[in-house]
Amino acid sequence: MEAPVLDVSSWSPLDEEWLGEQEKVWLAEPDGPPGASRAAWLFKPSRRTELPGRRGASPRRFTWSDAGSEWIAHQLAALIGVPSAEIRLARREGVSGALSRDVSSPREDLHGGDLFLSELLGRDYIPNAEKARNRRGHNLEVIGRVLDGLDGPATGSGANAQETFAGYLLLDAWIGNTDRHCDNWALTIDGSVRRLAASFDHGSALAAGKEDSFLARTDPRDFADGAMAMKFENGKNVHLADLALDGMDRWGGPWLDALAEIGVGDERAVVDAVPGLSELRRRFICRLLEENRRRLSTP
Ligand SMILES: Nc1ncnc2c1ncn2[C@@H]1O[C@H](COP(=O)(O)OP(=O)(O)OP(=O)(O)O)[C@@H](O)[C@H]1O
Ligand SMILES: [Mg+2]
Repeated sequence: MEAPVLDVSSWSPLDEEWLGEQEKVWLAEPDGPPGASRAAWLFKPSRRTELPGRRGASPRRFTWSDAGSEWIAHQLAALIGVPSAEIRLARREGVSGALSRDVSSPREDLHGGDLFLSELLGRDYIPNAEKARNRRGHNLEVIGRVLDGLDGPATGSGANAQETFAGYLLLDAWIGNTDRHCDNWALTIDGSVRRLAASFDHGSALAAGKEDSFLARTDPRDFADGAMAMKFENGKNVHLADLALDGMDRWGGPWLDALAEIGVGDERAVVDAVPGLSELRRRFICRLLEENRRRLSTP
């Protein structure tokens, strides 16, 4: 069944989100039960990039299929039990995008991983600092220390924070998400209780920033080859699949067994439910997913 696209033009804005590169706004879901706090959803307009015109032609605007990637990532994560932000496709004042449901509850504060890495490594924390590639200190050893002894998200199935993080690495390898920088994972804090927050920001996965003409001339297996863990220390030469297998060796978790239960039909059903994708893109995404899954099952 096709995923609905919600019109959220009438939802009340709560706040701007100042973390991250793109403009985004938090919205309150209108009709919760009387007296209950209303769920907050982050509206992420689809990214638009200007591409140079070919042979003297004027530049063209390309709209990413990032909302589709967010939605597919959430559905696939749910299939293998990896906790991730609930996603809905949406339109606001004529602009398309994705809604990402707040992974923190009203009692909790959410802080990106960079704060905790900086604390642990004794360096200044600069909010919203540019997330350099190969960032020093963003490696599994240090992340493991940040997560040591913490629980996973309350919405998860009881895996601890380290096991759950291994699940995020597996999800990233499956969907080709090279953007897991240290503010694309977070902890929630409620008084003295810290836990890993559910995974969020998968918009750049699944070749969302590539035009159909690129997909037409690219073999998905070659594209899968290039998915490096470039947001991790020394990650530019480490394939996402190798990082995920490293994470599972360290911390375990049921993720590989869950992935072994997935077949091409499951992936195709999820991809087919996204409205508006070209058949070329659907096929590319499915072959990419299948290839990434193969890498994870036969290391
Ligand atoms: N579902 C969510 N629940 C709570 N906070 C969220 C959620 N999604 C995003 N955020 C917060 O908003 C920030 C920006 O959102 P997000 O990472 O999705 O956007 P982005 O602009 O694509 O980021 P990037 O700079 O990583 O490309 C995140 O770093 C996080 O702090
Ligand atoms: Mg982000």
